[in-house]
Amino acid sequence: MEEISRSVVKKDHAAKVSGRSIYVADYPSDGVLTGRLLHAKTARAKMIGVELPELPDGYYYVDARDIPGDNNVNIVLDDMPVFCRDTVEYIGEAIGMLIGPDEKKVEELLGEIKVYLEEMEPVLDMRKAEKNFFEYNFGHGDVGQAFAEADRVFDEEFETGYQEQAYLEPQGMMAEIEPDGRVFVHGSIQCVYYVHNALKRVLGCGDEGVHVLQDVTGGGFGGKEAWPSILACQVAVAAKVTGKPVRCVFGRREDMEYTSKRHPSYCHYRAAVKDGKVTAIDADVIYNAGAYSTLSAVVLQRGLIAAPGIYNIPNIRIHGTAAKTNTTPSGAYRGFGGPQTFFAVETLMNHIARELGVDALAFKEMHIAKQGDLTSTAGRYHFPVPVKEMIEEVDAACDYRKKRAEYASPQTGRYRRGIGMSMYFHGAGFTGSGERDLIKAVAKLRKYSDDTVEILAANGDIGQGVRTTFSKIVAHELGLPLERVIFEHPDTGRVPDSGPTVASRSLMVVGELLRRAAIHLKEIWADGKEQEVEERFKEPDFVLPFSIETFEGDAYPTFAWAVNAIELEVDTYTGVAKVLGAWGDFDIGTPADYNVALGQMEGGFLQGIGYASIEKMDYNQYGRIRNNSFSDYLIPTTMDVPKLVCMFHVEKYPDGPYGAKGAGEVPLVGAPAAYVDAMEQALGGIPLNHAPFTAEDTLAAIRKEAI
Ligand code: MOS
Repeated sequence: MEEISRSVVKKDHAAKVSGRSIYVADYPSDGVLTGRLLHAKTARAKMIGVELPELPDGYYYVDARDIPGDNNVNIVLDDMPVFCRDTVEYIGEAIGMLIGPDEKKVEELLGEIKVYLEEMEPVLDMRKAEKNFFEYNFGHGDVGQAFAEADRVFDEEFETGYQEQAYLEPQGMMAEIEPDGRVFVHGSIQCVYYVHNALKRVLGCGDEGVHVLQDVTGGGFGGKEAWPSILACQVAVAAKVTGKPVRCVFGRREDMEYTSKRHPSYCHYRAAVKDGKVTAIDADVIYNAGAYSTLSAVVLQRGLIAAPGIYNIPNIRIHGTAAKTNTTPSGAYRGFGGPQTFFAVETLMNHIARELGVDALAFKEMHIAKQGDLTSTAGRYHFPVPVKEMIEEVDAACDYRKKRAEYASPQTGRYRRGIGMSMYFHGAGFTGSGERDLIKAVAKLRKYSDDTVEILAANGDIGQGVRTTFSKIVAHELGLPLERVIFEHPDTGRVPDSGPTVASRSLMVVGELLRRAAIHLKEIWADGKEQEVEERFKEPDFVLPFSIETFEGDAYPTFAWAVNAIELEVDTYTGVAKVLGAWGDFDIGTPADYNVALGQMEGGFLQGIGYASIEKMDYNQYGRIRNNSFSDYLIPTTMDVPKLVCMFHVEKYPDGPYGAKGAGEVPLVGAPAAYVDAMEQALGGIPLNHAPFTAEDTLAAIRKEAI
């Protein structure tokens, strides 16, 4: 094990386990007003107006008319309003906010507001969307010719559902006006500068007019990538109007129904096979973006780039749209568009193999890309592709091939078993040229006269351990004890813009800037003096520049790789499946801390198994999310997968700190494909094409097949 990988006690461990951590809901309430949002109850309507009850002294109502700047939350496009404009686009959309000193009274008054609307027919089905926010088309080779010359053509459809991030701490934000007039916003946030920039636009001020602090954050998983920008603008407008601190913390139901979740998907794949090999893939992908575009452009891009999987297919045509529907805006969730298409392509490859009468694993191995091959965007796999070795590691850990052969023989009786496998990557860091052209990350180290060193970076710890791993890197390079390196929660008033805490980039990109900064500081180190060093991102020389117009070039500098195996047992009486074991082999380069990285792998893999099996969420005929509590949206616990084994396969990335590369998202991405593969085997080899695959689905499949 590398020295850096040796585990330490996490910096925030004691505060968290003792309950001393201050989350946004924990700040004292003296003089703080409570804000509650007035949510639309109709999925699509023209707004006519609201009629307020008489508001007692000290109670306020704010809406779009109170916004000092633009009524646009700066995300990717300018379509998400702070408070609704002249239309309502989804159930839950914020019409306004009611604010006052007593929370119960606020709730009561909120219930007395009359909303006048002219209802319209909502668009709920993504396949019948009237509008696409984004559409992309790319490929290479000659797909038409490959299909014309094919021995066989396969045509399949795949669907995946919503997934709710289910962070323990719901969305929450607080704003106040400081004595000098600056607006100070803090709360549960992944990306302080996203919030900062959104506020500037809505408040109509410059950088000096606002600052944003990340409070202790109880999980994000992507769900606090964009939504905090919206809520921050809402509470900031309320603080401006009332002149008092305003806090809004969502209830669980509100959070589950109205905030973003993973995009449901519909994929239509066609594949051409000649001489036992896939020669072409033609994929049409639709992601349900919901009512506003938020992050759908980038989520869809990542999904499309992964559409042919990890395989070297000479001819590909990829087409995808992000469809507008009158449903809750979909957004970021760990994996960020990858899990949907990896489910489709992995399942497709399994089905083709079965139809051809060959072993799925051997069939896939025949197609796996190798170092130097073209990626789907005609970039290169610049570094080793260790998947074949990883397959052997997983096989050694769980006897995959033996069990696969054993469960393939006809099974009878109440309990039936299956084992399945998936193999995939997660592109490390931002998709395309975002890191180079948009983010331009900066990180600093400041040494004080007592020779302690403070990290000044914008990345927030959301449970992934970045407070600890960043500090370890700096302490390691400077030869300092860990406690002499300080990394507070980022405040945009103090730290430079190192970019957002997303895309499995923080450690790989910003961690490397900090490593270089520490090396530089060591060179100029002067005892007892105040010193500061700064590092800026520079794209590695080997990267082939990516063009979003043509989808050509390196979409990612490197990839995290993974192989998953899942073994399950189905109770054919109840449909309930028990996961007997789940094995994940992950190449995230050098783990920056073994336990921190292992925690990421185990947590992410378990989330993926939930997404594959029990996490079913949907809306009803009115467009309302039906699952709004943890009693009707179940997430797995350790009890559901007692045997969860995660392993590391280390291929060092030369441009990441000590060889580290993106780690945060990769563990989630491949579980649905492995789970459904195992389910197909347990159910006697019937082809399945959707995830999650629930107990109800199992019973329906059993009835249909009468097995
Ligand atoms: Mo993320 S899912 O890139 O916050």
